[in-house]
Amino acid sequence: MADQQSNRDDASKAWSGRFSEPVSALVMRYTASVFFDQRMAAQDIRGSLAHAKMLARQGIIGTDDLADIERGLGQIRDEIERGEFAWSLQDEDVHLNIEKRLTALIGDAGKRLHTGRSRNDQVATDIRLWLRDAIDQILALLTDYQRALLDLAETHAATPLPGFTHLQVAQPVTFGHHLMAYYEMSRRDAERFADCRKRVNRLPLGAAALAGTSFPIDREFVARELEFDGVCENSLDAVSDRDFAIEFCADAALLMIHLSRFSEELILWMSPRVGFIDLADRFCTGSSIMPQKKNPDVPELVRGKTGRVNGSLISLLTLMKGQPLAYNKDNQEDKEPLFDTADTLIDTLRIYADMITGIRVKADAMRDALSQGFATATDLADYLVKKGLPFRDAHEVVARAVRSAEERGCDLPDLPLPDLRNFSELIDEDIYQVLTVEGALDSRNHIGGTAPAQVRAAIARARAALG
Ligand code: ARG
Repeated sequence: MADQQSNRDDASKAWSGRFSEPVSALVMRYTASVFFDQRMAAQDIRGSLAHAKMLARQGIIGTDDLADIERGLGQIRDEIERGEFAWSLQDEDVHLNIEKRLTALIGDAGKRLHTGRSRNDQVATDIRLWLRDAIDQILALLTDYQRALLDLAETHAATPLPGFTHLQVAQPVTFGHHLMAYYEMSRRDAERFADCRKRVNRLPLGAAALAGTSFPIDREFVARELEFDGVCENSLDAVSDRDFAIEFCADAALLMIHLSRFSEELILWMSPRVGFIDLADRFCTGSSIMPQKKNPDVPELVRGKTGRVNGSLISLLTLMKGQPLAYNKDNQEDKEPLFDTADTLIDTLRIYADMITGIRVKADAMRDALSQGFATATDLADYLVKKGLPFRDAHEVVARAVRSAEERGCDLPDLPLPDLRNFSELIDEDIYQVLTVEGALDSRNHIGGTAPAQVRAAIARARAALG
């Protein structure tokens, strides 16, 4: 009812001058964005203050107007922060809500604020300011996550764990080395966000509706005021493209996919069938019917939320595809996926850093698993190669040794020397050193290898890079 009432009050719509009938309540709700874009109020006010300051410097508005605008916007900021601002659907979006309140507070100066500007360049500026803040927050949280990873990796730089291929025991690695794989992924993620920030951090304001403005504006000044690295150099592009938001969502999707892979491992490792780790109780929940259960809900939800982040990326790609130059209202749909993506990332990273510090490693279970899959078979082959046997022949020798151990139900180092020598005369007593897990680990001693010394060196390099 309230909507229909205000419907008839069409004189208060900022653009209603050329219209002969008001929009219906449904159309008003359908076209409004205020219920989600009010999240950008602080950015909108910051952008308006910079714009007004520039207008006054250029003599486009008076200094008295500027003073009124600064006072009015300051009051509006307080009202919003205190939760006292009356957001109205009637006024469509965050921009018109604030402008209308400003005019109510200070009169004509409020109406002059929009000189040389359009909501098209205004909204593009607001989103970029908002996203820049979100990226900075994400980068800081990524660092926390990385530090947690490095701490755990350092503790377990020499803890043996079966390395898997095809989810079958392949070769021994250290748990620290395994964790450092996720560190590497996170490092590329951080690089991508930092790189994306460069393209986000350009000022659209001054593009006005699409073609620029006839007022003598100073875009460089506004860019400096708002700490942008420069201006968007084509007005049509400035108001219309959202590639920077798409890029952010693509980077977000990759980060979530990395965390989803990690989560999948945590879930697997925590399964009583595997039992490599235990997660702190605060990241798990129980079952309402099965008293014995402790479910890894948090990693499962991280894996699940990857779906919505991927979905947002597809939403924005689809939103952009097929839009002719310049601004189209389609672009109003960019915000919810973007906000949701940033929110999901921020919460996920916050939880993840804490969750890693709460991992209890069951080193004995990891070592037991290593004795079951002939994890040092490659080491036996390499040993034979070092004694002069061609690798393919060595592979064949080891395959026969593995088959024999399998038949006897033991691991390779359990085979007595005479039996091993049946497979190759090249095998001597020194083979037992090679077939131990520690021997296998220590021998992979080059950059990128799993030798504990290399893992410690990788951690040291990572710490130096993080500062
Ligand atoms: N709420 C709009 C958006 O989010 C602001 C720009 C509106 N511009 C326009 N010409 N209708 O994109």
